[in-house]
Amino acid sequence: MLGIESSCDEMAAAVLRGREVLANVVHGQADVHAPYGGVVPELASRDHTRWISQVVAAALREAGLEPEALGGVAVTAGPGLVGSLLVGLCFAKAFAARFDLPLVGVHHVAGHLASAEIADAALAPPYLGLVVSGGHTALYRIDAEGAPVLLGETRDDAAGEAFDKVGKLLGLPYPGGPALARLAESGDETAVALPRPMLSGPGLDFSYSGLKTAVALEVERRLAPDGTLSARERADLAASFQAAATDALVAKARRALAQEGLGWLAVVGGVAANQRLRERLVAAGRSDGFRTVFPPLALCTDNAVMIAAAGARRLARGERDDASLGAFARAPVST
Ligand code: KG4
Ligand code: ZN
Repeated sequence: MLGIESSCDEMAAAVLRGREVLANVVHGQADVHAPYGGVVPELASRDHTRWISQVVAAALREAGLEPEALGGVAVTAGPGLVGSLLVGLCFAKAFAARFDLPLVGVHHVAGHLASAEIADAALAPPYLGLVVSGGHTALYRIDAEGAPVLLGETRDDAAGEAFDKVGKLLGLPYPGGPALARLAESGDETAVALPRPMLSGPGLDFSYSGLKTAVALEVERRLAPDGTLSARERADLAASFQAAATDALVAKARRALAQEGLGWLAVVGGVAANQRLRERLVAAGRSDGFRTVFPPLALCTDNAVMIAAAGARRLARGERDDASLGAFARAPVST
């Protein structure tokens, strides 16, 4: 299965045979967007157009396969930036037509969820899926049949978006998440008292915009007359934010596992790369009696292996799309 992913600022192509990754190529665009402090949609789609042929060719080369040897083409149809999605979709449609291959569209979140099953053969439904990325923060119940059931989601910003915005507040380069996590290593996470939004009430929803605002106020209070923060303060703010942001994810995941009576948790999306989140979830699993699967880092951030995996599943069910397949900016998860 050839997978193609271009929903945001990563141009990715991968080849998957069963659970075996034959190729995984990702062309990132961080350098294109860094001067603007965030993804510029028009620049993202133009860069995808520039790179897509080379990225797909590189994946086929890495897999050692001619296009004729493929069994199908899976492509992200949404959600995402429509201009970026269209680049992948147009290419996938033309490629499928040229080599007479079946085409399947994939929901980006279904792709993230599928990455966990690739990573650990022992993971089988039913399980809880925690999707934490720059665009999504949600808990899903995954059953053997049917679409993932949404149990809770963010009411405002996504967790990764909050990492990126707080990174920017602390003067870190884009994308802020990984840089903030590194800075937090030298900070004291108890130094700044920050809210743990939505933790006291019932339910499984998340909220990150209040936490981001709280950090902005703490930054302002600490600014020196010349408008700077000391290295100590920056590290403490980063560590305190990271603790608040990840505590919310751990608490809601535990609550959902207990409520649904599930023994397995799969954590997927870019924020699953966060070391503190990983440590806290593993510790929670030891005390509550659940097991957590984290895909390897290369499968956590946007990639096309996960798209090929979700697409292969659709294909196995006999599902196909045709040239009328369109891009969508938003839609509930389908499988
Ligand atoms: O899954 P992904 O590559 O793209 C989306 O679908 O959004 O996730 C990217 C997000 C970014 O917001 C990035 O800052 C965040 O994942 N991220 C992290 C870490 N590594 C990436 N956030 C916290 N800690 C990390 N180590
Ligand atoms: Zn993603």
